[in-house]
Amino acid sequence: MLKIHNKIFSTPLLLAPMAGLTHSALRTLLLSYGGIGLLSTEMLSARRLPVENQRISPFLIRSESEKPLSYQLLVTDVQQIAPAMDALHRFAADCVDINFGCPAPRVRKAGGGSSLMSDPVRVRQIIRTARRETDLPLTAKIRLGEDLNGPVLRDFCLMLQDEGLDMLTVHARLRGESFCRKPRWEWVGKVKQWLNIPVVANGGIFSVEDAAGCLALSGADGLMIGRAAAQKPWLFAEIAREIYSVDIPMPEIVLPQLYAQFALGLTRFRPERRLGRLKEFTHYFALNYPFGHHLAMAVQKSTTPVLAWQQAVDFFARTDPDGLKVVETREVAAALSP
Ligand SMILES: Cc1cc2nc3c(=O)[nH]c(=O)nc-3n(C[C@H](O)[C@H](O)[C@H](O)COP(=O)(O)O)c2cc1C
Repeated sequence: MLKIHNKIFSTPLLLAPMAGLTHSALRTLLLSYGGIGLLSTEMLSARRLPVENQRISPFLIRSESEKPLSYQLLVTDVQQIAPAMDALHRFAADCVDINFGCPAPRVRKAGGGSSLMSDPVRVRQIIRTARRETDLPLTAKIRLGEDLNGPVLRDFCLMLQDEGLDMLTVHARLRGESFCRKPRWEWVGKVKQWLNIPVVANGGIFSVEDAAGCLALSGADGLMIGRAAAQKPWLFAEIAREIYSVDIPMPEIVLPQLYAQFALGLTRFRPERRLGRLKEFTHYFALNYPFGHHLAMAVQKSTTPVLAWQQAVDFFARTDPDGLKVVETREVAAALSP
């Protein structure tokens, strides 16, 4: 259980926002395994949000069952906050997260993501305004900063808390550090000691052992999982059961069936939006197979979702024929065709 502001979430396991990945199809797949306490959108431009149509925007499409759902805002100007919050209230968001961690040059250049961590004055205005505009749980996601500087990081985190933030997620890497670097989970522990609000650890959790190791080093109130959600959508259920003693059955995992379920979820998107999402997901899903790079490459080269699906079927026929037996391959192909 995790309490954030006025809401209680069933487990302290959160889906990380991931551009191109944390959309309706992945969220639905994750829910089928259980264990997840809070879902997330990918980062959403606060500037564009008020004019987006929730029923057709590929970033906003969701089904009734995708709850509770946190919406992550990419803010570049404090003026964007009030209209964006109005939109999130209309969309029935369960939680609002603000992105202070994205290191992508395009995002930084626009004045958003991790660039804001160097501008605490502007961040204070953003959080103060956001707090004024919503009574939803208000959270933020940060990295550790430009370099390891305890006092600077502490002041930044305390400022977020003073302005009314309800929960902070810390991706335990510096702004310039790539995924190759081991996450600094012990720094999440420092943040946890400085704050009274819940602190969630993020970065490098791919197994129950990783989750246990991260909790031991950080003492975090919850765990946020990103890439492993696409690789092993059942991981939340495993961690919930093994670490948080949640009573959920462990389903049998049949990878081709899981892939088919994801592909069917893509049919909620317009045909031209399906292929990119299938490629992005396959990049992570393929890691489940020793020769998964063959699958990833074949899908990557495909020019339509149906051809990509056919490549996946061929791969499964070679490497996982038993798993493929339970999949209605023609039905999936028919659903994916425009
Ligand atoms: C493809 C991809 C897209 C991402 N997009 C976002 C995003 O939209 N917002 C965000 O705060 N972080 C984003 N991240 C970072 C993740 O939320 C997370 O912090 C990072 O992947 C570390 O967690 P992990 O090791 O569990 O994957 C993204 C990461 C990946 C791999």
